Amino acid sequence: MTLNIQLSPGSFAEQPADVVAVLVTQGALAKQPGFARLDAALDGALAAHAGADFSGKAEQVLEFPSLGRLAQKRVVIVGLGERRQLDPARLAASLAALARSVGGQRSLAVVMPDKLEGEAIFRAVGEGLVLGAYKFTKYLTGDRRPKQRLAEVLVLKPTGKASAAERRGLELGVALGEAVGVARDAVNEPPNELTPEALAQVARGLAKQHGFKLTVLDKKGIEKAGMKLHYAVGQGSTNEPRFIHMTYTPKHRAKARLAFVGKGLTFDSGGLCIKPAPGMGEMKSDMGGAAAVLGLMAAVAALRPAVEVHGIIGAAENMPDGAAYRPGDIFGSLDGKTVEIINTDAEGRLVLADALTYASRLEPDLIVDAATLTGACIVALGKTCSAYYTSDAKVAKAMEKAAAAAGEQFWHMPLLEDLRSQLDSDCADLKHLGDRWGGSITAALFLREFTGGKRWMHCDIAGPVLADRAKGLYPKGATGHPVLTFTRLVESYG
Ligand code: BES
Ligand code: MN
Ligand code: ZN
Repeated sequence: MTLNIQLSPGSFAEQPADVVAVLVTQGALAKQPGFARLDAALDGALAAHAGADFSGKAEQVLEFPSLGRLAQKRVVIVGLGERRQLDPARLAASLAALARSVGGQRSLAVVMPDKLEGEAIFRAVGEGLVLGAYKFTKYLTGDRRPKQRLAEVLVLKPTGKASAAERRGLELGVALGEAVGVARDAVNEPPNELTPEALAQVARGLAKQHGFKLTVLDKKGIEKAGMKLHYAVGQGSTNEPRFIHMTYTPKHRAKARLAFVGKGLTFDSGGLCIKPAPGMGEMKSDMGGAAAVLGLMAAVAALRPAVEVHGIIGAAENMPDGAAYRPGDIFGSLDGKTVEIINTDAEGRLVLADALTYASRLEPDLIVDAATLTGACIVALGKTCSAYYTSDAKVAKAMEKAAAAAGEQFWHMPLLEDLRSQLDSDCADLKHLGDRWGGSITAALFLREFTGGKRWMHCDIAGPVLADRAKGLYPKGATGHPVLTFTRLVESYG
């Protein structure tokens, strides 16, 4: 069930709801009209109680009962942080915090501050509310099933009627929030359910709903196409691999052609180089890059940009088995290079290598890949920041802007040429793994070998696809990172 968000002029007084929320910036609360009006309706009780506990810093939420004095049962004040620093991304994060904290209520009225206006602001409101209201409850039964969830939100613009652009912004924000939900759902889904074929099913659903062109290759198709590295990774699992290619073509002439490539390991046991048991369950999220591609395609369907967008996924399950690939094996690749296998747990770069070659043959202006590729990247940047690698300064700048606008954390990492020799093999064109040090960089250097010299950016998203706790736009569990950043990137080409 989706969240129904309406936009209306007026104040909270005449709007019955379970909760009324008033958004305030840091500093004197009494001077902020929305707060002052609500406080007056409660005879100053709000100011008296908010005093010590509430400073209005971003994402701060404080809740009170309204004791029958209002048309709403509860009152919530929501901090937006300092006025000077308030941008749409921060606004979205605070609204997400609000929606999370009132998630058990059914209806919410949100009073906007007087001078927050325009399409971008209302897009952030829609995005934030939908992202914060997200819950993955599919597998809960009985008492564990939430009895109620946030279903109705009324956004109140006290200064008057919303413009057409503001309405459009809100609607787009809701759709983009839902697109992020597509990625979250896929990552949260357990690996016994979300097999490579199930991932293809999600793509089929999106293609049908939005009119994308779709190609899916099964195990035989992957072999026939010559994707030998992808095939090798998938050969040890009874859940057979899939290669997925979705295409969005704009109505009028496209300004650019972009190809997004996602790592879709629906489970990564490590294969014969099996991982230790602690944390292995988290490897259900090893299709986070694929999930981001699915989410991005849903976002593209809402945006309809003047850009051709290809969503490409290499899906497989990495399992130990009599048929599994081994360290020491040598395989060809789609582009003809031979690769010596060092460790079967470095499987992602193999699947991506063939998918990147496929993408490069589409002659795109830019290839972007997203992958939960290395533990080394988490060591470098922590759990809440992704790495991006590109040698193209313009692309790097566009990426920096896209991430900032989306409110997601990315850091530009170097493709250090002197590490490239770690991938030299005695018996094949390439080894697929270097030393331990600089592991995220050598993984990126390996991928580069398969990009056919095309303009390219690699994103190692191993940390942020799953969150240990809810914060800002992200809930605990699957975050939907980096759908919003990729969406902004696509928009920057449109
Ligand atoms: N999917 C993992 C990377 C990963 C680790 C993602 C932890 C999220 C959290 C990848 O396939 C992998 O296993 N990488 C190994 C490579 C190693 C064997 C050289 C790693 O990073 O430990
Ligand atoms: Mn692995
Ligand atoms: Zn993996």
